[in-house]
Amino acid sequence: PDLSQMYNLMDFEFVARHTMEKTAWAYYSSGCDDEITLRENHLSYQRIFFKPKVLVDVTNIDLSTTMLGTKVSLPFYITATALGKLGHPDGEKVLTRGAAKQNIIQMIPTLASCSFDEIVDASIDSQTQWLQLYVNKDREICKGIVQHAEARGIKGLFITVDAPQLGRREKDMRSKNIEDLSHVQGDDEEADRSQGAARAISSFIDTSLNWNDLKWFKSITKMPIILKGIQTVEDALLAVEHGVQGIVLSNHGGRQLEFSKPPLEVLIELMPILKQRGLQDKLEVYIDGGVRRATDVLKAICLGAKGVGIGRPFLYAMSTYGDEGVYKAIQILKDEMIMNMRLLGATSIDQLNESFIDARHFQSR
Ligand code: FNR
Repeated sequence: PDLSQMYNLMDFEFVARHTMEKTAWAYYSSGCDDEITLRENHLSYQRIFFKPKVLVDVTNIDLSTTMLGTKVSLPFYITATALGKLGHPDGEKVLTRGAAKQNIIQMIPTLASCSFDEIVDASIDSQTQWLQLYVNKDREICKGIVQHAEARGIKGLFITVDAPQLGRREKDMRSKNIEDLSHVQGDDEEADRSQGAARAISSFIDTSLNWNDLKWFKSITKMPIILKGIQTVEDALLAVEHGVQGIVLSNHGGRQLEFSKPPLEVLIELMPILKQRGLQDKLEVYIDGGVRRATDVLKAICLGAKGVGIGRPFLYAMSTYGDEGVYKAIQILKDEMIMNMRLLGATSIDQLNESFIDARHFQSR
């Protein structure tokens, strides 16, 4: 079907499933084990409902907001997903260009198929990019990556903390023969490719990484540090104690710990506690996993998220329709956002709060 027939983000997934190369589809779409967390991430959004306000003048809708000090046109960003060239010959650069045109942020993955510099070079002047970091056992390599990123204008360091070992994604493991992992960091001779693409390239990740290491990161960079992959209220509070600027409530899109709970439910628990303790201004809380509709984005923002990360839908849009697909996918969400803000009775992002949400059945737990 041509692009004009894409009405929502699930349409891109449908086309991707039927047209992408099998190995690429397997790598992008898979979750860990039985894919329960993958499923629940998405379904959690369908378990809460809105409390719209009527008779509000909703003529002008402003969707802009700020994330880590950057003004953006929409409250979501393209999150880091590895191996962009499996889906498109231009890889992550396609996402860079789409993000630029719509003025949203792209998070660059450590395990990108394009080199870091190629992705930064593909950006336009005013464009903001963040870096997702898998921490290398060799801290000199790590320091080099971080300081180079800072020098190239990266505005946030997202350290992934939910992946000391990569999860078991069996769909991915079954398609063993992914080639062209050539220059990706850590793709050494010892890598065991029988474990699938992800595991083959992750042998460099430091399993000893712990809270005490955060001091070192602060000493080597002035970029804001955000922990990506916080999955509980307790760890969110530890993050505050350790003085990081933000967290991403995330379970890696259901690819790591099976039965890690949906980030949305963690957000519902967390925000009242941060407020109670007067900590809500100490930490920017981001969230990702399972977001497919603007109503999902709006729910997360109402519940206190500063911004929402979206992964697979943009990979599918990139893989099926390239640049235009990514642009269109963002545009679809934008149009959905405007309509749903009107129907909710809110005209700007800062008006969104928990008064628009009925989540009693979660809070009573
Ligand atoms: C990811 N994710 C991820 N996260 C990370 O920190 N480093 C990485 O290299 C990757 N790679 C990656 C590859 C693919 C194919 C996917 C689908 C995901 C996780 C990603 O940043 C994010 O947490 C999830 O994708 C969010 O869930 P949705 O939007 O895909 O449902």
